[in-house]
Amino acid sequence: MIKACIFDLDGVVVDTARYHYLAWKRLADGLGFDFTEVHNERLKGVSRMASLNIMLEVGGLTLPDDEKQKLAAQKNEWYLAYIQKMTPADILPGVNEFLRLTRSAGMKIALGTASKNAGTILARIGLSATFDAIIDGNRVTNAKPDPEVFLLAARDLKTDPENCVVFEDAIAGVEAAHNGGMKCIGVGQPDILFEADKVIPGFVGVTLDLIEF
Ligand code: BG6
Ligand code: MG
Repeated sequence: MIKACIFDLDGVVVDTARYHYLAWKRLADGLGFDFTEVHNERLKGVSRMASLNIMLEVGGLTLPDDEKQKLAAQKNEWYLAYIQKMTPADILPGVNEFLRLTRSAGMKIALGTASKNAGTILARIGLSATFDAIIDGNRVTNAKPDPEVFLLAARDLKTDPENCVVFEDAIAGVEAAHNGGMKCIGVGQPDILFEADKVIPGFVGVTLDLIEF
């Protein structure tokens, strides 16, 4: 029985996956190679430095660490410029309604994300005080598909992993949920998130029936 819901942030609560892609693509353009949305799927859910490493691999580039730090900082600067403009209107359709449903059913809710910018985003969209627990990239050592982020969330919520369901838009995130012994609802396309227990295109019209397993 599901007693707690854990939400990824980027691409689940807000469409920041789009901003991450635009910032990475701008970096790749500057480095002189093409970076497509198909390549970008490999970056979803993955930490900033790990994302940069994957991106450089796509471009066939090997760079020294200090250069990589500069590129990651540049990408983050562009990304921050995008997210500074966010407002509560950027919360994806149906998310607020679904959060209310989980609340009225007495469930606990947490945020589990690789992002170190989660605090900024939550403040911009007015959800800083909504979650019972927030686990972000500043608290996690091992990146998804390692289950650390979700296990920390379950621990903070005082709920056994088997009673948690994770909402994820990333392949690495679906794997992380399963590696932690949790159910996972994919948010996005079934052909990409086929390892998830169920897949929804988004939260519009979603009811609690979805998380009955
Ligand atoms: C994840 C995103 O949520 O956070 C990744 O899916 C991103 O695309 C990662 O790289 C780290 O985010 P940030 O904000 O710390 O650079
Ligand atoms: Mg995501």
